[in-house]
This record gives sequence, C-alpha cells and structure tokens, in this order.
Amino acid sequence: MIDLKRLDGLTKELKNAGLDAIYLGPSTDLEYVTGLDTHPDERVRGLMVAADGRCFAMTPLLYKEEIVRAFGDVPFYAEWDDHEGFTGAFRRGCEHLGIAGGRIAFNDGVRAVDMLAIRDAMDMKMENGAKILEPLRSRKDEGELALMREASRMVDEVVGMLKAFIRPGMNERQIAQKIPDFFEEAGADDISFSPIVASGPNGSMPHYGGGRRVIEENDIIILDLGGRYKSYCSDTTRTLFTGTPTDEQRRVYEIVRQAQAAGEAAVVKGATGQDVDRAARKVITDAGYGQFFFNRVGHGIGIAVHESPYIIEGNDKPLKPGNVFSVEPGIYLPGKFGVRIENLVAVKPDGTGEALNSFPRDLESVCIRG
Ligand code: CO
Repeated sequence: MIDLKRLDGLTKELKNAGLDAIYLGPSTDLEYVTGLDTHPDERVRGLMVAADGRCFAMTPLLYKEEIVRAFGDVPFYAEWDDHEGFTGAFRRGCEHLGIAGGRIAFNDGVRAVDMLAIRDAMDMKMENGAKILEPLRSRKDEGELALMREASRMVDEVVGMLKAFIRPGMNERQIAQKIPDFFEEAGADDISFSPIVASGPNGSMPHYGGGRRVIEENDIIILDLGGRYKSYCSDTTRTLFTGTPTDEQRRVYEIVRQAQAAGEAAVVKGATGQDVDRAARKVITDAGYGQFFFNRVGHGIGIAVHESPYIIEGNDKPLKPGNVFSVEPGIYLPGKFGVRIENLVAVKPDGTGEALNSFPRDLESVCIRG
C-alpha cells in the first residue's frame, strides 16, 4: 500500500526542490513509497507524485491487478495497452494532475529510451530526481530499524551456518550456492546481492566474481553476504580460516579487526562520513598497509544495498540519527590473500553507533575447526 507518511515526506521534498512532481519508475524509491517490488522493462509503469500529494499510476493492463493491489485507491490510474503504447497514458495522467508543461523529476527506475519517448511526446521541464528521496530514506524510523536489526540477526545466523558447513575440499561455488538456502532457513525473504566467496589469492579482489577454487587445509576465505527481510537488506563480511593462519595472515587480520573497530568507535555525535572513513583507514595506513586498502570504508543501506550516506573521504556532512551504513575496511594483497570485516552500524538518537551485527570478530571465532 502507498505509505501516506512517506508520501507526505516526499511532497515536502518536492516543494523544497521547487518541483511540480516526480515520476518513480520500478526502483527501491518506488518500493519505499508503495511497497511494490518490481523491475523496469518495456511496459512502463510507476507512480507520478505531484507536489500537492495527488498521484497517478502508469498502468499497463498486463500489470493492472498487481499495481491496483499495491497502490489502492490513492492514485488516478492512467491505463494503457500494448496496442496503444504508453505515452498517451502518460499525457492523460499529467493533464489529470494539472502538471503538464511543469517541472517534473524522474528517478533512477526510468529507462533512458522511455524518457526520450516522453520528451518527444509532450512538453515539460525534465529534472534529475535521483536524490529527491535520499533525505527521507537515509533516516530510518523505529519500524525500519527493527526490520534491519532482524535482517542482520539473520545474516549473522547464516555466517554461523557457513562456518559449520565449510570444509577443505569444497569449492567456492559450492559454498556460494548454499547461501540462498541458508537465508531461507534463517527466515529471510531472499538474498540482497550475489554473495562473495573469495578464497586464498582470490581474496585480494574485493568484488571477486566467484569461481571454483578448492578450499585447502590451511586456507583463508572472505564471505560477503546479505539477505532481505520485509524489503530491508543486511550486509556483512567475515574472513574465515580453515586450519592454522600464517603469521602474516594473523598480523593482517588483527590490523583489519582494529580498523573496523576504530571505524565503529568513530560514530559519535557530530561525526561525518569522512571522519569514520579516516578513523578506520588510519589504523591500516599507520600499520604500513595503506596502499592495499583502496576503496571507501562503507555505504548506507536500507531497501537498497548501496544508498546514502557514503562513508568516504569528501563526505563532510554530519551523520544523523537513523542513518544505517556499513563499516568494512580491508587489506588486499595481490597474489596472496585479502581480509575484510564488515558490520552494519545504525546511528542512535545520541549520535553514537549501534552495531547491528554480532557475529564475533576475534581470530579464534573465525577459525573453522573441523
Ligand atoms: Co557492504
């Protein structure tokens, strides 16, 4: 159903931005406002929200039933069929709301080719609406935080299942293919992204795409995974060991563990995304591994796995209560191995951080004893 509180917040953002309306195509923005989880294709559908709070829904007949079920009686339904094409319906909707010719923003759920067809069919001032919902979405309310805690509890449970499951002789893909089943068992609705299982030298590629390398007796494995629970995502990383870590692996692991803890501890009243990045990065740089940590420390998360706020040099905006983001420093040694540890952190009303993940990070707890 359309969430009237979120709709109201959106109309305030439209007025602040001087916009007449925003069109939300299939996207996490649309899911945030309506609960509808759907993906863009050639049958243009979505919700136009005018600054006065009135809406119209682009409704291809093929999708009518699920759209009406999701949106209820709030919007005017601009229906279209395959024979007619969608631009006539788009125009009828705009005329119904009295926004034809106005300043209309489009979000990231709209395909470029469809925007060009709209541009050719009618006059309006098109604006970039990619960030209009950011201020709302990045401040989670208590209900959202409860869902994110629950999603994080589930991913921690899955990490435990993986620790019990992984044995030398399995390959990376066999482990990755098990992960959706484990999320199902833990009560999640789905996975939130393709899990990363990067073992041995593959661990030096932070977004390793996955292969069939076989886990050895003494090995190191980065597991980066997340699930979805009632629209909200989890995301965590643990680096596990089979057998006995080498001295270098122990040393690097301890540095990353301290960097991750320093990042979490830097979440204090008034701290910015940049402050958290610097606090975690400093530990790695001071230990002499700065050149082997080349990405940002974290990203916001909610209905999307990556959203505002970003924990990165240059983000000098103070973090706000209700922000939820990852703190995930790593050290990536090409040709050797990588270590990454990731927890999600929510900013509490007093400005300090609440870690949403509780799977232990000490070296003993991440060693698999078969
Ligand atoms: Co992450």
